[in-house]
Amino acid sequence: MSLQRTDGILCLDGVRLDQVADRFGTPAYVYSWNDIETRYHDLAGALTQIRHRICYSVKANSNLSILDHLDKLGASFDIVSGGELERLIVAGIDPSRAIFSGVGKSVEEIDFALKAGIGCINMESTAELERIESRSTLLSKVAPVSVRLNPDVDANTHPYISTGLKQNKFGVAEPEAVEMCRYAHKSTSMNILGLGCHIGSQINQTEPFVEALDHLIRLKQTLSEQGIKIEHLDLGGGLGIRYAQEEELDIASYAEAVSNKLRGLNIELLIEPGRYLVAESGLLLTRVEYLKPSRAPDQPNYAIVDAAMNDLIRPALYQAYHGVSLVGPSNADTVRWDIVGPVCESGDFLALERDLALSEDSLLAILSTGAYGFVQSSNYNTRARSAEVMIQNNDMRLIRVRESVSDLLHHERIV
Ligand code: LLP
Repeated sequence: MSLQRTDGILCLDGVRLDQVADRFGTPAYVYSWNDIETRYHDLAGALTQIRHRICYSVKANSNLSILDHLDKLGASFDIVSGGELERLIVAGIDPSRAIFSGVGKSVEEIDFALKAGIGCINMESTAELERIESRSTLLSKVAPVSVRLNPDVDANTHPYISTGLKQNKFGVAEPEAVEMCRYAHKSTSMNILGLGCHIGSQINQTEPFVEALDHLIRLKQTLSEQGIKIEHLDLGGGLGIRYAQEEELDIASYAEAVSNKLRGLNIELLIEPGRYLVAESGLLLTRVEYLKPSRAPDQPNYAIVDAAMNDLIRPALYQAYHGVSLVGPSNADTVRWDIVGPVCESGDFLALERDLALSEDSLLAILSTGAYGFVQSSNYNTRARSAEVMIQNNDMRLIRVRESVSDLLHHERIV
């Protein structure tokens, strides 16, 4: 991401992060408009060999300003709830540019999507197909649908974010997928458009994607032999980035491998990246409240900051690593710290064993938190959720007001 130091102060796209903290307080998520744009162009540029659509996975960061930004860059969208569909509509995005996935779509969500003119509903079970058919018949609509295949491919990622193994709840195995496509093809209230899969998240090698694509291509051919034409193959998201020492997915070789497989097949490729587009564009600004140096040999030095697991749950939930940078210069000695939050759980940590020159009041940036950061935040311990700020054209813009505790209590004052 575009971080650099000016006069010892960490700046994002030329804007001093200490000034962002002074103006909007901490904790605060801060994003780079330019970084999102660069990532989008890098990905689109790598895929020019094939007809494709980049469907940004809204769940990674659903702030309306980010959706609007990606919309203007030409993205389509991947959504997984009626709430995310509502966000697109509020952002002025045409629902026909969205693919709706998810294993548990309710009747209300299906009706909402059909009435809004959704681009495609990605079906994840036969029971869902039956529900979609009955709702579209009732509403006198023709539902644009695809089937999500579970290709049983190992993405070599954290078990919580692996989704393409047969024991995972997502998608259906090939024989069921064939049956569902045949059924949808015959139905007068469904139009079968595509086949999809999503094998997991934070995947840093090309091979699992190629393996999954092979399964989709084989299924497409089986269907074509039965007279069922498929217009798109959706390879899902999962493109991995670099949080620590790992290599990020090589986009050029990913794009080349995928393009080689699809050449001559006259089919559109859809992909659903979330993390790749926004993770590195964002950081979480937090201030040290207290230093609690070790008093025993087996006790860590604790730096207690004003952000916590309710603001960023990735370290607690997936043992995820995020880089930490001091925003300002420091005269303190460099010491090994565990960066922890105020929440009453020992799992409430943001980073462990980091060598930093901290003092009380130091401002810190927790890096690469633009994806699955704010969106996974909660009000645990009755903590109001943080502000979100966009850095754009050398300026800072508030894109989400910090919650107040009265915002939270409002929903419980039932008379
Ligand atoms: N498409 C589908 C159907 C998905 O389920 C997901 C992510 C994506 C696309 C986007 O995946 P991405 O390109 O962002 O890897 N909270 C976890 C990640 C959960 C991902 C869930 N599905 C984390 O913080 O790492």
